[in-house]
Amino acid sequence: MCGIIGIVGNHPVGQRLLHSLEKLEYRGYDSAGIGTIYKGHIQRLRAEGKLTNLKEKFLAHPLQGHNGIGHTRWATHGQPTEINSHPHANPKVALVHNGIIENFEELRKDLESKGYVFESETDTEVVAHLIALYMDKGLPPQEAVAKTLKHLKGAFALAILFTGYDNLLIAARQGGSPLAIGYGKDEKYIGSDAIALVSLTQEVSYLEDGDWAVLSPESVAIFDKEGHSVERPIEKSQVLESAITKGNYDHFMLKEIFEQPLTLESTINAYLKEGKLELPTLPWASISRLTISACGTAYYAGLVAKYWFEKIAKLPVEIDIASEFRYRTPPLPENGLSLLISQSGETIDTVAVLEYMKSQGQRILSIVNVRGSSIARQSDVVLLTHAGPEIGVASTKAFTAQLVLLSLLVLEAAQKRGLLNETTFEEMAFGLRFLPALCEKVLSQEEQIRTCAKTLSNASDVLFLGRGTNFPLALEGALKMKELSYIHAEAYAAGEMKHGPIALLDKNVPVVIVAPFDDLFEKTASNLQEVIARGAPVIVLTDNKGAQHLRSLKVDLLILPQTTSLTAPITYAVALQLLAYHTALFKGTDVDQPRNLAKSVTVE
Ligand code: M6R
Repeated sequence: MCGIIGIVGNHPVGQRLLHSLEKLEYRGYDSAGIGTIYKGHIQRLRAEGKLTNLKEKFLAHPLQGHNGIGHTRWATHGQPTEINSHPHANPKVALVHNGIIENFEELRKDLESKGYVFESETDTEVVAHLIALYMDKGLPPQEAVAKTLKHLKGAFALAILFTGYDNLLIAARQGGSPLAIGYGKDEKYIGSDAIALVSLTQEVSYLEDGDWAVLSPESVAIFDKEGHSVERPIEKSQVLESAITKGNYDHFMLKEIFEQPLTLESTINAYLKEGKLELPTLPWASISRLTISACGTAYYAGLVAKYWFEKIAKLPVEIDIASEFRYRTPPLPENGLSLLISQSGETIDTVAVLEYMKSQGQRILSIVNVRGSSIARQSDVVLLTHAGPEIGVASTKAFTAQLVLLSLLVLEAAQKRGLLNETTFEEMAFGLRFLPALCEKVLSQEEQIRTCAKTLSNASDVLFLGRGTNFPLALEGALKMKELSYIHAEAYAAGEMKHGPIALLDKNVPVVIVAPFDDLFEKTASNLQEVIARGAPVIVLTDNKGAQHLRSLKVDLLILPQTTSLTAPITYAVALQLLAYHTALFKGTDVDQPRNLAKSVTVE
């Protein structure tokens, strides 16, 4: 949530701050602001709403200075108004912040009693005034920040400018709010991720929990929470500028949907070489259970995998959403194996589960899309999805990459547990090689999917149904639909429908049924009859074999290619993504930046 950029150098920073904020807008887009130090004085410009509003203000009043910070906000404390926008400032400092200062109320009361006046409703402003308090007592910036950090509770990242210091920028990180440091020749940078820095430098290092850094144009000094000087390795950023532009597509989301044949192929190629799996050794044969946790779309990938692990590898799986898991503190098997799934690798609840699992002596395996992310760095074994940067707030190519990687893990586990002979393994692995082509086929059906989307765009409520792995797919379809089109969409296991949701059905509530011709098809087809009997319009996603059974019914059929148990969820996911995308286009919503959302959820 919230994007941070900072530049300290010898050249004007205003335009470049705005350019980096464009790259960060996916992290929050409620309001934006920049601040600079010019001839020792703080200057700032802030605007409510999208970045374009700030850009317009900048055209009218460009900020000067070679040292500056910028912020895109996803509001936590206080509405997304200009007054609550960052940077927050006082006569001594200006700062931008990502995360939450949990003890801000007590700090605020204390500061107010000492005469510090607050202009905003944010938790951030207490940090600015606390640093000012120490500077008012005569401490230099570095010491004032060190003292302030000791008072702050919560997970946060900060970037701070100081009146009178044209060449000083201080950054701090605590808990799950990442900060990258960038190294240029006579300039240094900070960013909430490597994407923020892509047009500035390729040389990056990452602050660890509790670190804070003092940047000048020539140097970076990093300290840990005890104030000891520490080194953090500088690496080459893997992010390419070309990967974070829209190209010829209207939206990042559409580009990312269409990238899937390639991202699936890259992910398969990374772990399946010449018909053999190349995966890290894990105790598949000896474990009694696998524990999985994740949030949102990544959780649904885990839920699909639960069906696969249990059926194909005969391995019991416990799975829960991370925000519940972390407080449930369930007992875990001794020396057990836990799997976390996350596109960003920064989701705060998933990070908290990781910490809990570690404290319970679990071995941590993670599937992440962002190299060097918090989850990647804290895991014992990391498997990267090769999806490339995902900018659209709705997760698409990361989901299918997670699924294909999970399918490979399932095959590995089944092999190691002695449940797959060579021939069956080869058949299943070979089947996965068709995935890019299966996706291409679905992408070529965009026009048909668009026609179905037109029907859905007139509805206020949509129900998604599926059985087996098609149930998590239905959940994912409903999530995509609601986050993009703002249509109320719910998903149920098809067999559960008659236990309540069926009461919703009438001619105004369309039902989307995910039903490839698999071993549960007949059961789902019976539920379909129950839906038709209630007069609800139906769209069935199925294949040729399924369609043969349904042709006589009054339903819209979206006939997708023939799939297997491993390829179906991935292939059908692409259709559901396009369905939500086009419904949103008909509704005229903001596809890449849906209201109230942010890409990387680093607050609870
Ligand atoms: O980065 P993560 O995969 O951990 O993110 C998890 C969820 O926040 C994410 O999948 C979210 O649900 C997306 N908006 C779904 O499209």
